[in-house]
Amino acid sequence: MKIFLLVCLILVLVFINACGDRGTKDNNIVIKDSDRDTNNVNVGSNDNKDDNENEVVGSNDSKDDEAVVETFLDENNVVTNVESIEVVVNKQRNLDEKYVPEDLVTLTDVPTCLANPEVNQLKKEAADALTDLFEKAKEELDIQLYARSGYRSYNTQVSLYNGYVTNHGQEAADTFSAKPGQSEHQTGLAMDITSETVNLQLTEDFGDTDEGKWINENSYKYGFIVRYPKGKESITGYMYEPWHIRYIGKELAKKVYESELTLDEYLFGE
Ligand code: DAL
Ligand code: ZN
Repeated sequence: MKIFLLVCLILVLVFINACGDRGTKDNNIVIKDSDRDTNNVNVGSNDNKDDNENEVVGSNDSKDDEAVVETFLDENNVVTNVESIEVVVNKQRNLDEKYVPEDLVTLTDVPTCLANPEVNQLKKEAADALTDLFEKAKEELDIQLYARSGYRSYNTQVSLYNGYVTNHGQEAADTFSAKPGQSEHQTGLAMDITSETVNLQLTEDFGDTDEGKWINENSYKYGFIVRYPKGKESITGYMYEPWHIRYIGKELAKKVYESELTLDEYLFGE
């Protein structure tokens, strides 16, 4: 009888133990499954998020690319955003020969050098900015800047360019004069400036004067850049012109100045 009871007890204990093992295992499985489900959800969700993010990034990238590669050029290499202060005119980007800026004004608040009234004009926004620039130069350094040549019509550029070609040959002329239709002066956004320290002439020496140095370092604050900088001749296609400043607006001028790139490089990677 004792033996029978002992056997029964052992069987009961074995049964209880077996149930306990299964419970734990089941629990383990549940826990593991829960973890895996959670991970799966997270992983799945992360994957999805990454995919979505990738899609968003991809779509932003395409937008940025579109913005960056917008060239504003028609099939004849004539610029289409002519009235924009950010228009880029260079040896590859032309203005129509009939193009005349909409809002040219005669400079009244800055000293000028030449009698020809045409070149004493700029687009209104650029004229106001030039006035600010000259006032600030006077205030900060007590230097007097002079406006020498601003807006030039297509026909004026024809006369200038042909004269240079006659006197210097085309190869030389092309290093310091734009062909008609390729001059920023026709946009009404460029001004050649000078000072009495260089006898009101346009010369590289201007870059070494106090006036030229101040212009180089400060004109961007008023929306201008020195358009044909030293060391960038192979990119701009023109010799160093410390006197030729171009209005592009304060925001873009700051970015171009800080990038140390030319306008062409900054906007188009050219
Ligand atoms: N001197 C500059 C390049 C022009 O002729 O427009
Ligand atoms: Zn110029």
